[in-house]
Amino acid sequence: MSRYSMFRMMICSFILIIMISLLCCPVSIFAEALPADDTEAKEPADMALARLNRYAEMVQEQKGLSFGYPGNLDIHLTGFYEWLLDSGVYSVIANNAGDPFDNNESYMNTLDFEKEVIEFFAPLYGFDLDDLWGLVTFSGTDGNNHGIYFGSSYLEKKTGKTPVVYVSDAAHYSNMRLVDLQNLDLVLVPADVHGCMIPDELEKALIPDRPALMVYAMGTTFKGGIDDQEALNAVLAKYPEIEVYRHVDAALFGGFLPYTEYADAVNRKAQPYDSIAISGHKFFGMDEPAGLFLTTMEVKNNQNPYEVAYLNGSMPMINCSRSAIAPLKFWWIIMHTGLEGFTEQANGMLETATWLKEELDKLDWPAWLEPMSNTVYFKRPPEDIMVKYALAPDTDERLGGELAHIVVMQHVNKDHLQLFLDDLKQVQ
Ligand SMILES: Cc1ncc(COP(=O)(O)O)c(C=O)c1O
Repeated sequence: MSRYSMFRMMICSFILIIMISLLCCPVSIFAEALPADDTEAKEPADMALARLNRYAEMVQEQKGLSFGYPGNLDIHLTGFYEWLLDSGVYSVIANNAGDPFDNNESYMNTLDFEKEVIEFFAPLYGFDLDDLWGLVTFSGTDGNNHGIYFGSSYLEKKTGKTPVVYVSDAAHYSNMRLVDLQNLDLVLVPADVHGCMIPDELEKALIPDRPALMVYAMGTTFKGGIDDQEALNAVLAKYPEIEVYRHVDAALFGGFLPYTEYADAVNRKAQPYDSIAISGHKFFGMDEPAGLFLTTMEVKNNQNPYEVAYLNGSMPMINCSRSAIAPLKFWWIIMHTGLEGFTEQANGMLETATWLKEELDKLDWPAWLEPMSNTVYFKRPPEDIMVKYALAPDTDERLGGELAHIVVMQHVNKDHLQLFLDDLKQVQ
């Protein structure tokens, strides 16, 4: 064979090898450019699973030492999820569009369960079952939205005037945001150093020729201050010409106070109010944002009556589609925890909060705990401790400036708190 023929043979073999490899292994060469086949489709799914698992690991790592926010992380819904899967209910879109107290529909909703949830809690807040309306909301904020909306519609109907909304400057920002959203007039009344609306300041701010929509904070977010309803009502009583509606924002404290010696603070038979909002995911152990809104029939019947033919009635609530699963979960929690369980949890939290305050006192670390409260606030520790225990910051110059707090929920136990106290000792 000539050199030339050998060279030609080599070139041809080389080209043949390249063609065979292109035909046999296109994926290895064009993997990025070709559309995914079955084998590859698993890859993004695996990547997604790995990412979800990383999230799950982070949750497990952080939950024991997460002290700064008012969520109960001791959640017991495993049985509920097993039922959801076994029953097949997970595979339908269940929707609670409609009125739980006027349920004419039976279209895959859980309005009857929702009504039972409201009726379970109603007596604890001093509502009579024959003068009750309410719903399971999306959150405490959603409950406040209903309170402010129902209150302003009610007052406007009674007086022909739009109300002024009075909220303390220590109350949760959702109230200010919602007043803004509903285009109402807001008066921010100064709060004292404990986070409570100052009655004298309310009196100075009162506008006598307009109805008053009071939002009482029963447990402010940072300090756990409780507005003194009796003292504030005494101020309002001096001005009988002012028509008043009282909404109670009891997002966290409304969850646990009914099971303690302080039950009267949120009982409308002791402190007359018109509506109350409570978060479901704070005390009760719902695993996603939810809440309760309760009011009277007098308030409900004085809303704008928008009739909705396809829902067979007048729908006073703000949202049309609402979760049908949240009422089921709430109902499950009630059935599995009961009054006894809630009582044990509520008093356990208050006892641990008192213990924490005493331990901080022993360390001479400036700390405060308001009456009826599970929220201990104190001089802010260094940043690494803030991060380690997911502590929430605030400032108050009256108390020396930078502060932080621990909200003693069901998952915050003394062993975990001892770790925090030991860390504080190191930085004293
Ligand atoms: C006093 C108070 N009101 C309302 C809210 C808002 O509740 P949610 O987060 O359920 O919307 C909070 C939240 O922390 C709160 O502390």
